[in-house]
Amino acid sequence: MKHKTIYIIFFLLWLSNHTSAQQKVTNLPDVLTMSTGKKVTTAKQWEKQRKPELLAFFKREMYGQMPGKPAGIAFKVFDENKNVLGGKATRKQVTVYFTGNVDGPKMDILMYIPNKVKRKVPAIVGLNFDGNQSVNADPAIKITTSWEDKGTKGVINNHATEAMRGTNASQWPLEMIIDKGYAIATVYRGDIDPDFEGGLPLGVRSLYPELQNRGDNFSTVSAWAWGLSRILDYLETDKAIDSKHVAVFGFSRLGKAALWAGVTDERFKLVISNESGAGGAKLFHYTAGEGIRRLCTKFPHWFCGNFKKYMDQDSILSFDQHMVISMIAPRPVYVASAQGDSNSNPEGEFWGAKNAEPVYKLYNSNYSLPTDSWPALNTPAVGRIAYHIRPGGHDVKDYDWIQYLNFADKYLKK
Ligand code: GCU
Repeated sequence: MKHKTIYIIFFLLWLSNHTSAQQKVTNLPDVLTMSTGKKVTTAKQWEKQRKPELLAFFKREMYGQMPGKPAGIAFKVFDENKNVLGGKATRKQVTVYFTGNVDGPKMDILMYIPNKVKRKVPAIVGLNFDGNQSVNADPAIKITTSWEDKGTKGVINNHATEAMRGTNASQWPLEMIIDKGYAIATVYRGDIDPDFEGGLPLGVRSLYPELQNRGDNFSTVSAWAWGLSRILDYLETDKAIDSKHVAVFGFSRLGKAALWAGVTDERFKLVISNESGAGGAKLFHYTAGEGIRRLCTKFPHWFCGNFKKYMDQDSILSFDQHMVISMIAPRPVYVASAQGDSNSNPEGEFWGAKNAEPVYKLYNSNYSLPTDSWPALNTPAVGRIAYHIRPGGHDVKDYDWIQYLNFADKYLKK
């Protein structure tokens, strides 16, 4: 009898850890209810009333304010080789001078354009973690001179070295992307804003002192999103690129930035969030994994000062990240998770995407994430909102890219 009771207790404990988090969250704020309590029922109301209200809220309380395109922005193509990746692609490298001043802050774009396509090509834009030199072993890629994290392999005195060539290549399957007919353009996150608390003087945020020392300060995630838009500014000037068909991609912290870039810049026609976790696609109400306290204490520069007041409020917030994903509507969005990535809370990421659906449906009743439950491994659910979870850990795998490229074939190319 005693044993039976113990077994039952263990079973109940097991069950409480394995029941769907969906069932645990009953108080998710409704994306279609205005702060006045009024219910939004049309796309027009969403665009004219609810979306502006939410956008203002998230800028004030979480991501901070963001400047526009700098007036003097200038671009210099400093490298072009039409015969790379076995002749399949053209490599270009372009410096973006944010203020037009060659001695001022700048970033380097590394891009690959497919040779076989004779018309303008759609493109995918994304930031990289460790520097352009890590994306491919090609010795012609300029090594970043920007601040690097000394914990990263190959970094000496906070600077990148030759040893970092190609170290991240597995996350950037250039040939696969080129073979599918897409151009790819990437920039090192540290060229835009170095990823540490005291990094402000070294990045673009220092250009906007009026946006600092305030609760809704221009934050690092916002700066990265802003930098993604500046890549698109360049692409609009590049004759090889179909700049009306550009997707934005990001992994992890850079996935948080990609989602925010998708919200703040409607020129991005498709958005891909690879394991963006807390402050990305994950709902804070799904409290397993990283929460607001960890985000705000371990990475205090990522979001604005006002966000800190929500520490320990994750499960009772009056807002959540499904509202952020909703602001991308009706443009297609792909959210992906990895089974072993518990810090990102894969199930919370799924429900973040799923709960954006009511807004997509305002545009078209067929716009959906076509599943009502958290999908099994390797079973992408693909509608205008898409989701998959694959086995393995926090990473970007070929499997992920294959799904993104298929998604882009379906929703970006036409
Ligand atoms: C940390 C952090 C996450 C982030 C991740 C990454 O794990 O807690 O929020 O997404 O780094 O950027 O790889």
